[in-house]
Amino acid sequence: MTKKPRIAKLGPLATRADRHTLYQIAVQDPEPEIRFVQRVFKRTRGRAAASFKEDFCATAHLATAWVKGHRSRTAIGVDFSHEVLAWGREHVLAPEPQHVRDRVTLVLANVLDVVAPKVDVVGAFNFSYLIFKQRAQLIAYFKSAYESLNRDGLFYCDLFGGTDAIVPIVEPRRCRTGFTYVWEHESYNPITNEILCHIHFKFRDGSEWKKAFTYDWRLWTIPEVRECLLEAGFKDTQVWWDPVDETDYRLTEKEGNQLGWLVYIVGVK
Ligand SMILES: C[S@@+](CC[C@H](N)C(=O)[O-])C[C@H]1O[C@@H](n2cnc3c(N)ncnc32)[C@H](O)[C@@H]1O
Repeated sequence: MTKKPRIAKLGPLATRADRHTLYQIAVQDPEPEIRFVQRVFKRTRGRAAASFKEDFCATAHLATAWVKGHRSRTAIGVDFSHEVLAWGREHVLAPEPQHVRDRVTLVLANVLDVVAPKVDVVGAFNFSYLIFKQRAQLIAYFKSAYESLNRDGLFYCDLFGGTDAIVPIVEPRRCRTGFTYVWEHESYNPITNEILCHIHFKFRDGSEWKKAFTYDWRLWTIPEVRECLLEAGFKDTQVWWDPVDETDYRLTEKEGNQLGWLVYIVGVK
């Protein structure tokens, strides 16, 4: 008797996969991000940051890593999706010891509405704020981030761009647990700067999870983001560039264009 192939018994890998687990493995890397946040905070404020609000926190992977890094740290994660917060509670927070769980607060709300308690750092990572497509909306968001910050607090967000950012591309990258992460720019509208992107996952049995995540964004430019931060009340802004040939982001005011670039933009209260 021949053995039934495993795929026939359990179904294709794509139907058994968990998209949040795959996203964490393929996209998120909290430790270097936290090291960067602390490096810039120390340089700008002369001390370490202790309290952190992760806007658009999804599963709160970053917020949880933040508090795990030091016993004095606290974190608030804000997301308006019940589904992702529930997933984060079960899969990210529940396995942690009590002293970690006690220092992470998850809030089911719109990021525009959460301005207390005040924190040292507000972060909006993996481009989540690009959902705000109108200038007035973006400034309203930056104002709420400003209001959430302690007197010497800093706001951090990231941004991507470059020649490849505005052309249709499909970029596969193999991940360590054997699946392939695929980043796609489906369309770009030069009149509005709107960009439609997807994350797909492909599995070793040939099955695929198409459009596991979809992002309908406005691809703001670096000067636009800086201007809106200043308009929202921030005293200063910093641009930290991801260098291809160096190990860490560097503070800069002039760069050549690249096929793809990545920056952190920091709002200084
Ligand atoms: C790109 S994902 C988050 C990525 C995560 N911050 C990271 O670093 O990988 C965007 C998240 O933002 C949430 N979201 C979108 N608009 C929001 C809003 N106005 N208020 C709160 N959460 C929002 C979505 O529910 C989703 O979980």
